[in-house]
Amino acid sequence: MLVLGIESSCDETGAALVKDGRYILSNSVASQIEIHNRYGGVVPEVASRQQLATIIPVLEIALEQAGCSWEKIDAVAATYGPGLAGSLLIGLTVGKTLALAHNLPFLGVNHLEAHIYANWLRKEGALTSSSAHWSYQEGDPIFPLVCLIVSGAHSELVFVPEHGHYQLLGRTRDDAAGEAFDKVARILGLGYPGGPAIQKAAQQAEEELLWQQKPLTQARNSYRLPRAWLRGCYDFSFSGLKTAMLHLAEGATENNNGKQVSHYTRMGAQAAQQGMPNVALLASSFQEAIVDVLAVKTRLAAQEYGVKQVVLAGGVAANTSLRARLEQELSPLHIHLSFPPVSFCTDNAAMIASAAFFHLSRGEQHGLDLDVQPGLSLPFIKR
Ligand code: KG4
Ligand code: ZN
Repeated sequence: MLVLGIESSCDETGAALVKDGRYILSNSVASQIEIHNRYGGVVPEVASRQQLATIIPVLEIALEQAGCSWEKIDAVAATYGPGLAGSLLIGLTVGKTLALAHNLPFLGVNHLEAHIYANWLRKEGALTSSSAHWSYQEGDPIFPLVCLIVSGAHSELVFVPEHGHYQLLGRTRDDAAGEAFDKVARILGLGYPGGPAIQKAAQQAEEELLWQQKPLTQARNSYRLPRAWLRGCYDFSFSGLKTAMLHLAEGATENNNGKQVSHYTRMGAQAAQQGMPNVALLASSFQEAIVDVLAVKTRLAAQEYGVKQVVLAGGVAANTSLRARLEQELSPLHIHLSFPPVSFCTDNAAMIASAAFFHLSRGEQHGLDLDVQPGLSLPFIKR
C-alpha cells in the first residue's frame, strides 16, 4: 500500500510517499527555522502563512522524487492534531482536497502517534517489499514496548501493548523536554531551536575536557542542578530546572558587575579560569539533568512493565546524550533501544504516512468533514 503523507502541524512542511508503512520512496521537508530564529521561537501567524507558501512545492518534490504517478498512490493522510490550528489547517485541507480530487481514501493522523511510527521507517527494501499487511516484518519494533515521547510540546511515557493501544504511564506536569531545551537556549543566548544548540555547546565543553584529558563528568556536573524525581510516579517536571538555569544566568551577570557572587557562579568562574566557557558548561550540566531524569524513569517503566523493547520518539529523541545514556541504562537489562535517524525524529511526513498505513490496513479512514484538533492527545486506554 502506497500512502502520501502530509505534515504541517508547526513550522515544518512535509510530504512523503511511504510503502507499507515502512519503506520511504520520497520525503520532502521545508523548515522555517531561519525565519523563527529571528524571534527566538515559533510565531504561529508567520508559521501558517509560510505553510501555505511551501506546501505545493514540497508536495511536487515528494511526487517527483518518488517518480510515481497518482494511479500508484492508494491513500492520502495528513496530520489533524495536535499542533497550531492555522498550520494544521493548511496540510489537512490540501490532503482532503487531493483525496477528493483523486478519489482516494483519506486518513487524519495523530502527530504524536506518527512520532512513534517513525521507528518503523527504513530506506531499504522499498522496491522488493510486496506485503501490505500490518503484522510484524523483520526490523519492526517488538510489542509490548515502552515509548518515551519527547518533543517540543510533549513529554510522555507510554506503555504500548500492541498497534494502536496506548496506556499513559506519566507525562510532564509543566514544560515539555523540548520546550525546556528551547527556553534554556534562549536564556543562554544560543538561539532557536534550543535542543541542537545546547547539544552542540555541551559537546564543545566535553571535547575541551577530552583534550585536557579530564573526565567528561566534570563538564556534566560543573553546575549542581535540581532534578524533579517525583518519586513513585512516571511524571516529569522541568520548570524548576529552567528556573535554576535562569538564576544561574542572572548570577553570572551579577558576578560580571562585581555584585554578590552565588555558589553556582563561583563554580562557573573556577571553570572559566580553567579555560572553559561558562555557557558550554551550563549547557552540558543542563542537558545532563534532563537526560538523567528521562533515562532513569524510562528504564524503571521498562522494568516494571517487563518489556524487551523501548522506543524513543519526538524531536528530543535526536539528542545524542539521551540516546547514549538510555543505551547504558537498558543494555545491561537486555532491553533493546530503538530510535529513528535524526532527520526522522523531528517533524516529517514519512512518519505520518507510516502511522496512516497501520490504520488504513485495519480498514479505518476518515470522512472529508474531519476538522483540525490542536489539543489532540494519544487515544489512551484506561489502566
Ligand atoms: O518533534 P518536534 O520536531 O516538534 C514537535 O512536535 O514539537 O520537536 C521539536 C523539539 C524542539 O523543542 C527542539 O529543541 C527539540 O525537539 N530538539 C532537540 C534536538 N533536536 C531537536 N532537543 C534536544 N537535542 C536535540 N538534538
Ligand atoms: Zn513533532
